[in-house]
Amino acid sequence: MRRKLVAGNWKMHMTATEAVATVECFIKEIGSKDSADMVICPTFLSIPKVRELTKSTKIEIGAQDVFWMPKGAFTGQISAGMLRAAGCSYCIVGHSETRGRFGKLEIPAETVCHFGETDHTVNLKIGALLEHGIRPILCVGETQAERDASMTDAIITTQLEKALHSLDPTELDALVIAYEPVWAIGTGKVCDSLEAERVCGLVRSILEDLVGEGLARTCRVLYGGSVKASNAKELFSQPNIDGGLVGGASLDPKEFAAIVSSA
Ligand code: PGA
Repeated sequence: MRRKLVAGNWKMHMTATEAVATVECFIKEIGSKDSADMVICPTFLSIPKVRELTKSTKIEIGAQDVFWMPKGAFTGQISAGMLRAAGCSYCIVGHSETRGRFGKLEIPAETVCHFGETDHTVNLKIGALLEHGIRPILCVGETQAERDASMTDAIITTQLEKALHSLDPTELDALVIAYEPVWAIGTGKVCDSLEAERVCGLVRSILEDLVGEGLARTCRVLYGGSVKASNAKELFSQPNIDGGLVGGASLDPKEFAAIVSSA
């Protein structure tokens, strides 16, 4: 039986002071409910404060990205060891925004290609996180153009194959996967629950081929993309959807608590 997991991806929102107020309100809202694992992924700067506040709760802390090298001359980067020392137990990897695949952008896409990680950097990041006992939340998903061209399944397959390439299956117990169609992120266009279920089931069968049946059965596969309190229950009741990666709606503590309660 897979335990549901709901993770809030705060992206580039909230100062540390705002983060504290939001988390205090979320803790009050959630009370002693324990129906799902809960993760909050604030900005790097807010991690210590949020960690301090949630220490005596079931809420766990995640980062939004990581650099794979342990230390060195890598200006602006944060290592997995540093995240672990700050109390992170999860980290998002390969989000479409760090892959440079923003749904909507007012400047030319090539201007942000320096964010653009590759499937290879995603693979290196997963390796570094596992080495430090941090659970990677690996994001995969197709753009609208790829969906229109019937490439969804091929994109998901390639992203998973490359992300997990040469990693030891016996060390992948900690892995979480989030199916996040790029066209559903921050757009209010949620993926139909049956289609989200189909793709999450596909993720599981690809995992079976790549890393074996045992892991494919136990690995948590989340859905992400415009999850709200009003659609969470239907999405989370699908047999292959083990919870959600929630962006915009996780910024509102009452809404986020309602989403967690649906899980
Ligand atoms: P959204 O973002 O819930 O705001 O669509 C999800 C995500 O990017 O993880």
